[in-house]
Amino acid sequence: MLKVGIWGLGLIAKAHVAAYMVLKENYPIKLVAACDTDDRAFAEIALANNAIDINKYNDIDEMLKSESLDIIDICLPTSLHVEAALKMLQNGYHVLLEKPMGLSSAESLKLLNASQKTDKVFMVGQCLRFYPEYQYLKRIIEEKQYGQVLTAYFERLSMTPKRRGENWLLNYEKSGGCLFDVHIHDVDMVRYLFGEPKAVSAQANHVLSRYDSVNTRFIYDDKQVVALADWTLKPSFGFKPMFRVSFEQATVIYDNYSLRVYKEKEFFTPTIEKGKGIEKEIEYFIELITKGRENTENRPEDSFKTIELLECIRSSADENGKLVLWV
Ligand SMILES: NC(=O)c1ccc[n+]([C@@H]2O[C@H](COP(=O)([O-])OP(=O)(O)OC[C@H]3O[C@@H](n4cnc5c(N)ncnc54)[C@H](O)[C@@H]3O)[C@@H](O)[C@H]2O)c1
Repeated sequence: MLKVGIWGLGLIAKAHVAAYMVLKENYPIKLVAACDTDDRAFAEIALANNAIDINKYNDIDEMLKSESLDIIDICLPTSLHVEAALKMLQNGYHVLLEKPMGLSSAESLKLLNASQKTDKVFMVGQCLRFYPEYQYLKRIIEEKQYGQVLTAYFERLSMTPKRRGENWLLNYEKSGGCLFDVHIHDVDMVRYLFGEPKAVSAQANHVLSRYDSVNTRFIYDDKQVVALADWTLKPSFGFKPMFRVSFEQATVIYDNYSLRVYKEKEFFTPTIEKGKGIEKEIEYFIELITKGRENTENRPEDSFKTIELLECIRSSADENGKLVLWV
């Protein structure tokens, strides 16, 4: 039985907890403990998950001392990611770390190096790679089902995030802004689908903190690719991801949480696998451990490269869209 402890029990940890509750039916895993410095987190999670039975800690060393854990699932604020993951790898745990890997390539490299020196599994939660809609897109691109991609547009719009306490997401030093928190998903996806762009050109707005909305043009020889992220929308808007990819023989649109393929005369909704991305991400991570599988879909090297590309995008935005060479 693999015993799991979550470190940081806020918003995204709720989705992780829900996933463990489902996955325990089919895998030898058990979420046994969680650590959060804020007691309100335990009340919130109990409310969201019908009073789940886990041991609660305010101090991580206390949790490690009292429990015999195999996996540490880190859902802490971003500025704590690298130090926390390093500590857990050095202590011999398998580590699932929420995205982003870190707030700079310099600190993320330390983590990448540490992950290559351990026999434990380390993975960063670039969850989009596991969402059925994006997996469908990846498959039809690879299989060239509708020919070559001509243009691709990715969007992630969000109300301004709000967290209890100091609202760390609006502190650029702690979150990296919308660039490292939200845009990262599509930047990572663009690399996953199309490989490395030759260059990027980006613009950003600094309204609430820094890099609160970012649009990036990814330069490829044979297609046009653009992504936009913006977290300056009003609360009643909520959150909405979207993509539109135009192929030689079809246009594929994911909007309002539904997927459609538009052909010459008609459109249809393709049949895709059911299930939530976070659940599939954690299932993949667990199978890396339990089945000894090779990580082909979401390697730490890829998470690291995405951080490097975000830095390139930031450099371009700092020079108002100047083309910055990537490969
Ligand atoms: N994959 C996704 O789609 C997705 C979505 C949201 C957030 N995230 C990522 O997850 C991470 C957490 O984001 P969130 O939205 O859940 O934040 P959050 O503020 O809701 O949760 C963070 C939790 O960590 C706790 N915490 C802070 N410092 C601590 C410490 N030293 N020890 C123990 N607990 C501590 C806080 O009290 C809080 O409960 C971020 O890096 C974010 O980028 C990913």
